[in-house]
Amino acid sequence: MNKRLWSIKEYPFQPEKLHYHETIFTIGNGYIGTRGSFEEGYDGDSPATFVHGLFNHAEGELAPELVNCPDWTHLNIWVDDTPFKLITKSPDPFHPPEGLVLGYERRLHMDIGVLRRTVLFRATTGNTVRIEFERFASLDNVHLMCQRIHVTAIDGTPKVTIQAVLDGNVTNQGVQHWGEMRAHQLSEKTIALTGVTNQAKYQLNIVSQLHVHHENKNIAYDFNEDTAFATSVIPLEKDGEVEFLKYSVITVDDVGDSPLESALHMLHEANNFDYELNSHKFVWQKYWETTDIQIEGDELAQVGIRFTTYQILIAAPVNGIDASIGAKTLSGYGYAGHVFWDTELFMMPPLTLTHPDLARNLLMYRYRRLDGARQKAQENGYEGAMFPWESTDTGLETTPIWTEPKPPDGRRIRIYTGEIEIHISSDIAYGILQYWRWTGDDKFMRDYGAEIVLDTAVFWGSRAEPTERGYEMTDVIGPDEYHEHVNNNVFTNRMAQWHLSEALNLLDWLKDNANDDYIRLVEQLDLSDERLNLWRDVIDKIVIPFDEEKQLHVQFEGFFDLEYIPVMKYSPRVGGIWDYLGHERALASQVLKQADVVMLMALLGEEVGSREVMLNNFHTYYERCDHGSSLSPAMHAWVAARLGLMDIATEMMEHAVLIDLEDNKGNVHQGIHGAASGGAWQMIVFGFCGLHIKDGQPVISPNLPEYWKSVTFSVRYHGKIHRFTAR
Ligand code: BGC
Repeated sequence: MNKRLWSIKEYPFQPEKLHYHETIFTIGNGYIGTRGSFEEGYDGDSPATFVHGLFNHAEGELAPELVNCPDWTHLNIWVDDTPFKLITKSPDPFHPPEGLVLGYERRLHMDIGVLRRTVLFRATTGNTVRIEFERFASLDNVHLMCQRIHVTAIDGTPKVTIQAVLDGNVTNQGVQHWGEMRAHQLSEKTIALTGVTNQAKYQLNIVSQLHVHHENKNIAYDFNEDTAFATSVIPLEKDGEVEFLKYSVITVDDVGDSPLESALHMLHEANNFDYELNSHKFVWQKYWETTDIQIEGDELAQVGIRFTTYQILIAAPVNGIDASIGAKTLSGYGYAGHVFWDTELFMMPPLTLTHPDLARNLLMYRYRRLDGARQKAQENGYEGAMFPWESTDTGLETTPIWTEPKPPDGRRIRIYTGEIEIHISSDIAYGILQYWRWTGDDKFMRDYGAEIVLDTAVFWGSRAEPTERGYEMTDVIGPDEYHEHVNNNVFTNRMAQWHLSEALNLLDWLKDNANDDYIRLVEQLDLSDERLNLWRDVIDKIVIPFDEEKQLHVQFEGFFDLEYIPVMKYSPRVGGIWDYLGHERALASQVLKQADVVMLMALLGEEVGSREVMLNNFHTYYERCDHGSSLSPAMHAWVAARLGLMDIATEMMEHAVLIDLEDNKGNVHQGIHGAASGGAWQMIVFGFCGLHIKDGQPVISPNLPEYWKSVTFSVRYHGKIHRFTAR
């Protein structure tokens, strides 16, 4: 195995990129995600551990957010009496520093989901140690987190003190979500914290044990109100070594009847680091066996796609966890952990095609929140189920209606997406139908999927506005969020049309193959003849703006009346064009934030129109696109590759695959761009390799970038693994 192509390295320490690396070095296991902050802390750092589904709406805040949990990685370390900190040079050239870092390397091993760091550290006494840190969040038992700290005396006979800490004094960047937080000793060797969130009342338990492998082993325990310590002091001989192990278990009140006891039980089971590591590696191996994409001829893209795939894999809730993946996964505070269309259309497809059990779990998250979607429809005067644009644990709409006020003038921007970005209901239906097509999981469809697809179709039937022109959808926001309150957005209307006709096909299928379910759903959702006729009428007559003369789709009515701005002129640019043109001018222009008509072409392919129309659409919207959203480049690369526009496809691919590693959007500190990560996988598989189903079998029709020799990947189709090499 080529380690370089399977890992991300930081060498030497780059303090100016502290927050970038905290995000990049996130580890996780589909239950928790922990940013790559240092065990011992660092000035201005932003450590965070998020647990899937643990949301809380603190008083005075705009919306609920994923709660930052106590940092299970936290350790205080002293060498002799010098506190171990990453000080790389003395602040005062005439005095020796308080300990000095002589060497540093950190590496994320994506093949096995392990983060390692090695530091050479000299204490003020002159004694020097090598400290090797290792951490992982077990994929074998997702409640378990393991750390190993191996200390070797390099020079002298240092005394090493390690203090394993559970510190309950945590906030979300100043916002307090914890109501009670209590440190306690749970058993002779176990330190514990129990916390309850102040609004949603989730109870979290975190329990830890410190183990020491050394003949002089000793551990002292200490507690104050919300912090627990286990401390061990080991004098090392010349060339001596010691190994410290910290095991931690996190449970929330959804684990069994007694989450605290089950946490303790799991902790007792974990007492052999190598055994736990091997079990964890074993699951990783299975993850990669089907998900890995191998690119020959482009090492940068190879590392890039492994990195983005790794991020999806560590964020995908494992079976039984009732949660979905937020826009920034579990790697940062961005978007407060909320779930968007990013999941079903961007992050889920790689899972649908390689680990359908993980995709199914994401769909179950939506199924369990159908009531929230029904409530939203009702509150807005519609029928059926209208999914929230931003979703959390409750399934209710949680999009904040304002941006955070911008100091110093306190200005803030009204956000309308929660009210009128309605295409999410078709996006979810698309995810379900794609899952069904690739897995053949009829049982899921009968028991759960059909109800979602049909009840969201009911919503579309009630949302379409009958006018003398047919059916219209006015006052919406399409994927391109720079344009608000638009009429007849092509993406929204065309996807609703597609959704309604798929719903009718699905009903036919149910009637023939699962008649009981057909009868049940027709009754439950009131799928009367009258309603189905309405759907047929909407399919026939919905307004899809199209310019006959130019043979292209018009993103929404009046789009071409807006000011034309040649976006390319303002390149290269890291931020969005808003920063340059200002909010108002950008909104009043033809500049788009992200793939909109192009997104439709990615999803529906040739169904959108002839090759001529597709090319016209692509060229028109590509030159107007700001890519102000990270979701955009991969979709452009995908469609360009299908259309054989290889220069554009390649350029967009380079942008998409390194979006986080190269911090192309300048905001990695807020978390990983989950949708861009899933989009990158799809761009390669559907775009460059041209994977599709033909005559009931998956096949490819590749169009690769010129310098790619080959791409190898696997997918599952109806339970069977198919391996492809595209050249
Ligand atoms: C994009 C949306 C996306 C959201 C979360 C926004 O900037 O415009 O399409 O769902 O970010 O990633």
